[in-house]
Amino acid sequence: MLRLDIVSIFPEYFAPLDVSLIGKARERGTLDVRLHQLRDWAHDVHKTVDDTPYGGGPGMVMKPEVWGEAIDTVIGDGTPRMIVPTPSGRPFTQELAQELAREEWLLFCCGRYEGIDSRVMTEYGSRLRVDEVSIGDYVLAGGEVAVLVMVEAIGRLLPGVLGNACSAVDDSFAPGSMRNLLEGPVYTKPPVWRGHEVPGVLLSGHHGKVARWRRDEALRRTVKNRPELAANLDPQTLDKHDQAL
Ligand code: ADE
Repeated sequence: MLRLDIVSIFPEYFAPLDVSLIGKARERGTLDVRLHQLRDWAHDVHKTVDDTPYGGGPGMVMKPEVWGEAIDTVIGDGTPRMIVPTPSGRPFTQELAQELAREEWLLFCCGRYEGIDSRVMTEYGSRLRVDEVSIGDYVLAGGEVAVLVMVEAIGRLLPGVLGNACSAVDDSFAPGSMRNLLEGPVYTKPPVWRGHEVPGVLLSGHHGKVARWRRDEALRRTVKNRPELAANLDPQTLDKHDQAL
């Protein structure tokens, strides 16, 4: 069981967590998702959560007092791992998803505007493990969509969430022999569709040849779409993999 607390001024952003794999994991009790409205901890009539930045500049910064009360209430004397989505964070990778899937309790704090007053991360950094995490080199309007992305990537790794436990093993970016290789193309019936044939090797029943073909296609796709990943492949690892097939 993984407990997830998500604090946001837009808890309604998380409606998709009711459906599909993640929705089923929640029904089964593999995932315990608790949504919190940050404004519940703002005490003025307007439920203000932001203010102008010290030092000037555009935009607004989220107030530390509101976040402090919210986090204190949500965690009590517990010690979840705290994740703050921000374009300035460390990259979210499959490796980090796997690490987070092994935790018992995650607290996601969604910033809006120019972000959360940095003292919030300092304050909780002395009590909790705090990570600022970016899902990619582009700027979203807030952390909510980034948290949806992370929760889906983490949730599908939990025991029993994927129908076929092997599905996650040969994912693109999954550790193992295919690490740093993108997944190649996939096919299903019929064998010919609008004149396009399924590659013959996949119909051959020869497992060694199929594995070899998949590895070659994965490499081809990686070179085409992610040359920087291909450049980092260890040629010796590739050679060993080739010999094993
Ligand atoms: N908030 C805004 N942009 C983001 C990004 N790229 N990753 C994580 N959180 C964000």
